[in-house]
Amino acid sequence: MKKFLCALMMAVLALGITACGGAAEQSAPAPAAKTETAAPAADGGKKILVAYFSHTGNTEKVAQLIQSKTGADIFKIETATPYSSVYREVTEVAKQEKADNARPALKNKVENMAQYDVVFVGYPIWWYTAPMAVATFADGYDFSGKTVITFCTSGGSPISDSTPDINKWFKGANVIEGIRAYPDDTAATEKWLAGLNL
Ligand SMILES: Cc1cc2nc3c(=O)[nH]c(=O)nc-3n(C[C@H](O)[C@H](O)[C@H](O)COP(=O)(O)O)c2cc1C
Repeated sequence: MKKFLCALMMAVLALGITACGGAAEQSAPAPAAKTETAAPAADGGKKILVAYFSHTGNTEKVAQLIQSKTGADIFKIETATPYSSVYREVTEVAKQEKADNARPALKNKVENMAQYDVVFVGYPIWWYTAPMAVATFADGYDFSGKTVITFCTSGGSPISDSTPDINKWFKGANVIEGIRAYPDDTAATEKWLAGLNL
């Protein structure tokens, strides 16, 4: 009889433990769900840089608008030797630099390029492509794994004229061809930015 009672108690105890185990397993998904909701917030914030070259201010205006709308950092690409402000002179120098596939020295450097996920790259169209200073800029950093979004201003040439060079220069980047912007048409630039879903 004693043996039977003992066995009965063991059975009751075992059932209780199994039930507790079950309850513990059922409550387990709660913390997992919490982790899932936390994840998007953790990798939500992309770090953005707007890097631009501008000789007469048109591209600079667009760059500043992009910076203010995205909260990005901003960097002006400047050559160590400034270009002439005389149109005929700058066009001749730019033409020669393009023919020579030159890399004009730059005046300054982005402090910590590694921190940026997305880099907007803006420039005026010079001789149907980007100025060679943009090539020097591209050579200066490791763009692999980064998203490069272009924008330009021009007298009429489309941004697509410059895209083959941009793809060549920004090795390893995911290049997204952006817009030929009009400095005073802020609405068009803002609409384009909104569509990027950054
Ligand atoms: C050297 C040079 C070359 C240019 N080449 C072109 C060109 O090939 N196609 C074009 O549509 N505009 C061309 N332009 C006009 C510029 O792209 C346009 O004025 C641009 O908005 C200037 O931008 P920025 O004020 O930021 O320097 C050229 C201008 C310069 C100075």
